[in-house]
Amino acid sequence: MHTKNSTYYNLHQFKIFFADFKGDILVAQAAIFFTAGFEANAATIAFILYELAMQPHLQTRLREEVLDAMDKNEGTLTYDGVRDMEYLHMVVSEVVRKYPPMPILDRVPNRDYVIPGTNITIEKGTAVYVPLLGLHMDPAVYPGPEHFDPERFSEKNRTTRHPFMYLPFGEGPKNCIGT
Ligand code: HEM
Repeated sequence: MHTKNSTYYNLHQFKIFFADFKGDILVAQAAIFFTAGFEANAATIAFILYELAMQPHLQTRLREEVLDAMDKNEGTLTYDGVRDMEYLHMVVSEVVRKYPPMPILDRVPNRDYVIPGTNITIEKGTAVYVPLLGLHMDPAVYPGPEHFDPERFSEKNRTTRHPFMYLPFGEGPKNCIGT
């Protein structure tokens, strides 16, 4: 018998998937990699350079962190070296708060969904949009939201907010694969 977890069943599903992997579905994969992968990064880098140019003292601090990291690795940047750069992380986090390349998340439920703790049902097939830019610019959560301030993402400060008030990479099983 071919149960849902059997190897036969999985290979069968795999074959169906690849048999359908053509036309619009194929083009959509290339398009998502360009828009989600390439364009999101290009926009983020452009806004980092803009904000650092507007506040050169932030640029100096970040530059010192980069130089320190290189000093520790015989003048080169390594993957681990970049991962350890706390201030770089804070700067990038603040950029994608203020300029999220994808300001809206979208979902379509494949079954009726009751929002837990309420009697509100989102019916199957209803388009649901989450305006994450609105969350990122909420002055109750991010005071003076137009001001670019990487300190919002220091280790201490970032734990003071509800995690779902910051969604630059989405959330759940369909979130960004590039994070
Ligand atoms: C600053 C950089 C990036 C930002 C802010 C960003 C943001 C996002 C957001 C908001 C989503 C939708 C998530 C959701 O609906 O929950 C997404 C999806 C996606 N991202 Fe990114 N992204 C970035 C970089 C990348 C990179 C580098 C790649 C490729 C390696 C990538 C590939 C994708 C793909 C394939 C999806 C669709 C995932 C799915 O539908 O299952 N992204 N991204």
